[in-house]
Amino acid sequence: MMRIGKAAGWAAFGLAAVSSVLVALVSYRFLPLGVEGAMDFMAHHLDGNALALYGHIGVAPIALAVMPFQFLSGLRARRPAVHRWLGRLYVAAILVSGLSGLQLAFYTTAGSFAGTGFALLAVIWLGTTGAALVFALRRQFARHRFWMLRSAALTFAAVTLRVYLGILTGLGVEFETAYQLVAWLAWVPNALVMEAYLWTERQRKGALTQARPQLS
Ligand code: HEM
Repeated sequence: MMRIGKAAGWAAFGLAAVSSVLVALVSYRFLPLGVEGAMDFMAHHLDGNALALYGHIGVAPIALAVMPFQFLSGLRARRPAVHRWLGRLYVAAILVSGLSGLQLAFYTTAGSFAGTGFALLAVIWLGTTGAALVFALRRQFARHRFWMLRSAALTFAAVTLRVYLGILTGLGVEFETAYQLVAWLAWVPNALVMEAYLWTERQRKGALTQARPQLS
């Protein structure tokens, strides 16, 4: 039973890791095609917001591609320096792409409902990642891990956004409506699932500590 649980965990992690790296790579289609050719509904940002647009679409995929490697315990144990350097890259990428994503949120043509969803995501993304960094610097690694898992659930919104957008438009929902919905749907469930996971983990560890025999 335990083995099935572990295998399912690895399968879910593998799927999340592969989809993160794939979405990150596909995001760079604007390099050969240009923004107009690759994502024409973003092209209006070129007029006055070009720096934020390129800052976001050029840097956010780095955070997405790096994120899964940070959760490989083998890599962390054997190559702690690699974990630290990738961690710095992840945090720096989120600082740039979170701030630029926040700016883009104010200028989205998808309306204020979608803009609020994106803006809130940007603020919570920056906040959770900042908290994780502070706990790493204070060497409080259990808390660092908790906040990095929260940050990762939000980074993964880049994948879930594209999945939900595909499902909704596939079901016949108009692109404009689907886009407004995914501005929230892409990250709120991710955040809730992660909170549920962290809560369960805390309960399990609490039960283990209570069950352990006292030494004195
Ligand atoms: C988690 C915090 C994030 C926020 C708040 C955010 C916000 C935004 C906003 C506001 C836009 C423009 C939407 C519009 O004008 O209608 C956008 C577009 C985009 N974002 Fe993000 N984003 C985030 C994460 C990411 C990540 C991790 C990636 C990595 C792939 C990414 C890649 C892109 C790309 C490629 C676009 C252009 C449109 C597209 O291809 O779908 N974003 N983002």
